[in-house]
Amino acid sequence: MQTIAPSIPTLDTPDLTYTDWTVIETQFSPDLLHARETVFTIGNGYLGTRGSFEEGYPQDLSATFIHGVFDDVPIVYTELANCPDWLPIALSINGETFRLDQGTVLKYQRQLDLQQGILSRTVRWSSPNGRTVDLHFERWASLDNPHVLAVRCEITPVDFDGFVEVQASLNGYPENQGFNHWELIQQGKQDHSIWLSSRTRGSRIQLGMTAQLNIVGADATPQGTSVPGYPTLSATFLVNEGQTYAVEKLIAVFTSRDVEDPLAAALSELSALTDYKTLRAAHRAAWAHRWTYSDVDIEGDLRAQLAIRYNLFQLLICGSSTDERVSIPAKTLSGFGYRGHAFWDTEIFILPFFTFTQPETARRLLSYRYHTLDGARRKALHYGYKGAMFAWESADTGDEVTPRWALPNQPYGEDVRIWCRDQEIHISADISYAIWQYWQATGDDVWMRDYGAEIVLDTAIFWSSRVDLNIKSERYEIREVIGADEYHEHVSNNAFTNRMAQWHLEKALYLYEWLLEQYPEKAAALNVKLNLSQERRSRWQDIVQCIWIPYDPSTGLIEEFEGFFKLKDIDLADYEPRTKSMQALLGIEGANQRQVLKQPDVLMLMYLMRFTQAFPYSEEWLRVNWDYYAPRTDITYGSSLGPAIHAILASDLEKVSEAYERFMQAAMVDLEDVRDNAADGIHGASAGGLWQAVVFGFGGIQLKENDGPSATPHLPPGWTRLRFRLHWRGQWYDFDLRPPEASRQNYPDIRGVIFDLDGVLTDTAEYHYRSWQKLADEEGLFFNRQANEALRGVSRRDSLLRILGDRKVPEDKLEDMMERKNLYYISFIQDISPKDLLPGALTLLQDLRKNNIRIALGSASKNAQGVIERLGIAEYMDAIADGYSVENSKPAPDLFFYAAQQLGLEPQHCVVIEDAASGIDAALAANMWAVGLGPAERVGKAHLVLPHLAGLAWHDLLVKLSELERKEASVSR
Ligand code: G6P
Ligand code: MG
Repeated sequence: MQTIAPSIPTLDTPDLTYTDWTVIETQFSPDLLHARETVFTIGNGYLGTRGSFEEGYPQDLSATFIHGVFDDVPIVYTELANCPDWLPIALSINGETFRLDQGTVLKYQRQLDLQQGILSRTVRWSSPNGRTVDLHFERWASLDNPHVLAVRCEITPVDFDGFVEVQASLNGYPENQGFNHWELIQQGKQDHSIWLSSRTRGSRIQLGMTAQLNIVGADATPQGTSVPGYPTLSATFLVNEGQTYAVEKLIAVFTSRDVEDPLAAALSELSALTDYKTLRAAHRAAWAHRWTYSDVDIEGDLRAQLAIRYNLFQLLICGSSTDERVSIPAKTLSGFGYRGHAFWDTEIFILPFFTFTQPETARRLLSYRYHTLDGARRKALHYGYKGAMFAWESADTGDEVTPRWALPNQPYGEDVRIWCRDQEIHISADISYAIWQYWQATGDDVWMRDYGAEIVLDTAIFWSSRVDLNIKSERYEIREVIGADEYHEHVSNNAFTNRMAQWHLEKALYLYEWLLEQYPEKAAALNVKLNLSQERRSRWQDIVQCIWIPYDPSTGLIEEFEGFFKLKDIDLADYEPRTKSMQALLGIEGANQRQVLKQPDVLMLMYLMRFTQAFPYSEEWLRVNWDYYAPRTDITYGSSLGPAIHAILASDLEKVSEAYERFMQAAMVDLEDVRDNAADGIHGASAGGLWQAVVFGFGGIQLKENDGPSATPHLPPGWTRLRFRLHWRGQWYDFDLRPPEASRQNYPDIRGVIFDLDGVLTDTAEYHYRSWQKLADEEGLFFNRQANEALRGVSRRDSLLRILGDRKVPEDKLEDMMERKNLYYISFIQDISPKDLLPGALTLLQDLRKNNIRIALGSASKNAQGVIERLGIAEYMDAIADGYSVENSKPAPDLFFYAAQQLGLEPQHCVVIEDAASGIDAALAANMWAVGLGPAERVGKAHLVLPHLAGLAWHDLLVKLSELERKEASVSR
């Protein structure tokens, strides 16, 4: 899809941590408000609700999107309407309103339990008047009964007796970024319950929502009040210090898409509900069941484990389990981005997960395309073609809803014409591709007969009206398109589009024959409806034979489109470091005129043809085209659809660290907001691509017509086990993969990490320098920053001796000077606190701990112990080697030997992370892995040189070292 990329600042997210099933936010940062609302989205396949707070927050973007509830809006035609908000709970503690932007937040933790589908939050809050209260919120959207939603809040006064007032509301005035889609029909109240009935302005969809409130632990009867559009249940009750009270809000919701009278349905649903705990148990059981066939279990890489589950959770909550008139929006049901429209993201990126784990959901998603065929027919007609031409962006009717223009944010900016609606026509073939894959995987002939065939055949008719015969060169061509790579518009003979169209027509011909044979009546009916005459089909055959795909048969290099190789070449390294897309840097025309890709195009084709090893896929051709296109692809800031696909292909080509890096880029796109647009909603295609990367890439699953799926795993370094299930033709296949013995030997077996302190975990290297400088100045000794570089990692005495150079000084004077320097140093480090940890240090320590990697400190400093205590990281150290541990200082290996010994590890199982040349020498002399932080001039002898620890996770490091070891192994072989 086309976006005008904003500038992208890099975000550090030190406050997000995880276990294998939970994402945990340990601190509330208003700066991350919108991104985290997306991250903490919950849902149940019927609706999705962003993770905004029950009590609200200034500028929050709370939203609930119900599948299929579209309404008219200018410019983008139609959008998913933000539905009435079921979350609001206002708490007043002894008359003071609970708000995170007032009073003091003493404790905060928010966590999403992916296994149970429950979002919870624990807050200890001190009011402006100094009353402290513990609050625990939890919410869930029932997976057992998708029309039921629940919020619960526990309240415990910590240091007061008093009263609490609760107001639980339904907000009938939700907005889509300033635009209100709803008109109120009626609202009402009864004992314990309230209701709201409203209708979208344009599409006239009615919605009925009701809520009830139950107070646990106190004697209170909620009273309804009717603020227009904001029905509320309030209760006030006395509370005692140390006692816990709970308020439980249960909600029921229906729309006129589900039932004729949604308000009546919601009211009767609510009145029939059992209690909170029973409902929650049913919800949990439904999730437990859902995970039995959806889960991907990774051992040996906790971060990857959490990330895959997180992404699958986000897919599971937006695949409808009942409705075949809805698809999955590009941003799922989690944000305003792309207005709830569906793209090829669904069929090519998201669908395989459903096809192979919950085929009924896949079938519904594909049926959505059947129900929107008339929209696709109207589009074909509008553009002067025949058959069905699917919309690039599709909503409820299937009519094209890609905005024609993107409007600028600046008053003097230019409007940008979006050509995808006119030219990005490959989507019709993509849909057929997904249908074919579904059919292969399920053998669902009945669906193919009743739904799939008509889609494939009517879009084949479109293709045959869309291609041109070039009489001069006697070939068919497709002109004026946008391929998968959207940096290039108005191109002709895009290899991806032409080959997909050819493939599509091939399959359409096969399908027609199949119908004739198996279901002649259906073939006849479709013949009448679509006109599938012999003449028409001969033309398809002719196109299949004579469509042009630009490539060089002698090398296998495919030209992305006619004339691509004549464009200005580019070296993306020239633009690094950057935080913007290449299109943002070069402009639309600038990118159009260069050999730079927004996302894989030829390589995307390779990927899609890889399943059946069809033209142009071959391993050899993959390598040739990878070598050409991967370096020219804007894989960081181009499209979020790219990284997962590159991960798979890189894995095929045994580019271990690139595969893992791309995989993680896709995995973290929302959790770590790596593209700074998580606020707009979950990147659904990236999530689906991630599943494909694990299963088809690392798991090496191949799908053979007759024998079902089989695996040839190439697990990333450190992954000791990978398990998942696939459904193939009515049967479950359980995969339990482990790295083959050979690959285990290829990878380093690292069990411990030894950290230098100064300049690695914290910036005290600077204080050492300033202390020496002060001493040198007092003593009239020559010293400067440059001279100090050589002192990094060097003991106090040796440092002084080096500064003194030839100058001979008696021992007592030496002692005195060392003591003075140390006093200066100690005064600098007085105020050190956890905030002085260098970026990335804590995250890495936590990650190592979670992956059972032993950790030691290896510093020449006699102050090391004190510093790590002040930094708050002493608990992470399994062993400490410091200035008191050994006689010989770095570059002698002694200190690191000592550390390894304390950890109980052999040197070859240890990695040293150092910022000093002497430290790298020491690590190498100890026969350990050496990672240097800083400029190559200083630490270039290390096995691996990195600028800093920021953004570095344990497996990134392991994978990088593994690749080195593999390279070394292949050189020595
Ligand atoms: C580390 C630092 C050096 C310092 C040494 C001794 O290795 O990188 O700059 O001289 O420790 O520190 P101390 O605190 O014992 O003087
Ligand atoms: Mg150091």
